[in-house]
Amino acid sequence: MYRFLRKILFLFAPERIHDLVIGILKMPFVSKIFLLIYRYEHPALHREVIGLSFQSPVGLAAGFDKNADLLSQWSDLGFGFIEVGTVTPKSQPGNPKPRIFRLVEDEALINRMGFNNEGAEVVRDHLRKRNGKLLIAGNIGKNKITPNEKAVSDYEACFETLYDFVDFFVVNVSSPNTPNLRQLQEKEPLKKLLQRLRQLNQQKPAEKPVLLKIAPDLSDSQLDDIIEIVMELGIDGVVATNTTIRRDNLCANPQQLDSIGEGGLSGKPLNKRSTEIIRYLHQKSGGSFPIIGVGGIHSVEDAMEKFRAGASLIELYT
Ligand code: FNR
Repeated sequence: MYRFLRKILFLFAPERIHDLVIGILKMPFVSKIFLLIYRYEHPALHREVIGLSFQSPVGLAAGFDKNADLLSQWSDLGFGFIEVGTVTPKSQPGNPKPRIFRLVEDEALINRMGFNNEGAEVVRDHLRKRNGKLLIAGNIGKNKITPNEKAVSDYEACFETLYDFVDFFVVNVSSPNTPNLRQLQEKEPLKKLLQRLRQLNQQKPAEKPVLLKIAPDLSDSQLDDIIEIVMELGIDGVVATNTTIRRDNLCANPQQLDSIGEGGLSGKPLNKRSTEIIRYLHQKSGGSFPIIGVGGIHSVEDAMEKFRAGASLIELYT
């Protein structure tokens, strides 16, 4: 059924299909049909991670429901949790279209969305309507026009605005589509950012778990720094990984890739590297913190591989 539907969907531009799917899922009867087909509850799927009870270990990765337009619909589809966002303090349009490209043979996407979103306050207003057991993470970032030296205040603003309406936070410093954002993964700026969020968190009546989302393009020594910082600052876990800027081992030819241009690659070609990162973090840290595994999961076997590498939960997008 899905393979047949996919043939039709692939006749249209990826972002149009994305918007259409969101529109269709908003129709109440559609999500009820999905509920009957896809929702499956079983105690064996329950997970206690980061102090929260997940009904299923499978979540929807950040970037699909950037503005928290759909909420209960995701649990009807069987997800145990979702990341909304990436949310920035102010709304921004993102990069010019087209900005999502299919690599059909590679079962991959390249995107350079650039954090298009309606801003933290609108997302907060959508989240006010949430109900049910679906756990929601606020994936937070900075506006494009905010220089890196002032980035902390953007993360702070998103943290404060969303605090009462999400179950946990994911700090995104790993998108390749906001200029220089990935520099915030370096030791000093990252420590400064996470320390500040910890401070804010400690001032709240009840702290919310804060996780860090990292890029698959980090070297081993950068991963060692991440482990050190996560452990030193008591960060609750890591989401591994975001999209990659690498383009090796693809079926797509160089001309096609050149014509697409910059962006983050997701889907099947990312699978191996994201699993390597999960395994590295898990082994090197001695399993000291939970990892949410994401990147190129296309089958049950891919999912199991992520769990075997050390992931406690997984997420899907492409
Ligand atoms: C993403 N991803 C993403 N991640 C994030 O932290 N914030 C975001 O806003 C987005 N936006 C986004 C848009 C699009 C079109 C795609 C394809 C991806 C990355 C996503 O959450 C995930 O980490 C990667 O896509 C890897 O997982 P998959 O797609 O291989 O399952």
